[in-house]
Amino acid sequence: MAMTISFTLNGRPVSTDADGGRMLAFVLRNDLGLTGTKVGCGEGFCGACTVLVDGEPVRSCSTPLSAVAGKKVLTIEGLELNGVLHPVQEAFLDHGAYQCGFCTPGMIMSTVALLQNTPRPDRRQVAESLDGNLCRCGAHVRILAAVEAAAAKGGAK
Ligand code: FES
Ligand code: FES
Repeated sequence: MAMTISFTLNGRPVSTDADGGRMLAFVLRNDLGLTGTKVGCGEGFCGACTVLVDGEPVRSCSTPLSAVAGKKVLTIEGLELNGVLHPVQEAFLDHGAYQCGFCTPGMIMSTVALLQNTPRPDRRQVAESLDGNLCRCGAHVRILAAVEAAAAKGGAK
């Protein structure tokens, strides 16, 4: 029997009759049209699909829809507020912290979670926090600089 699953997505209530066993990344992208969340490996290894669930980073390619029932899901599309980018997004732009950009939404979501919990991380904490987010383009040095710049500007907002 189909069940309706409700959760909060980027501050708005949503309900879906999608199969609760489907992975969140595909519901977001294919059903709800939020293609900012990327799917790289699709197996929980690369971090490209990272979104926040109740403030914690999760791999949406490996998180069943049923697991977010009643929770708050934040995707890259939910960071901008009234046309103003989130400070972490601004910092990534300012530092050119990407090449192809495929890992970028996941990097940014992991960074937002980091700065919410640790507003002024040192470089070791940043590296450890982003260790599970892979960048095949090798933009790591600029990514680290962007995260540190976002932290210096109060990027936990
Ligand atoms: S696409 Fe989800 S971890 Fe790689
Ligand atoms: S910028 Fe291409 S994978 Fe990171």
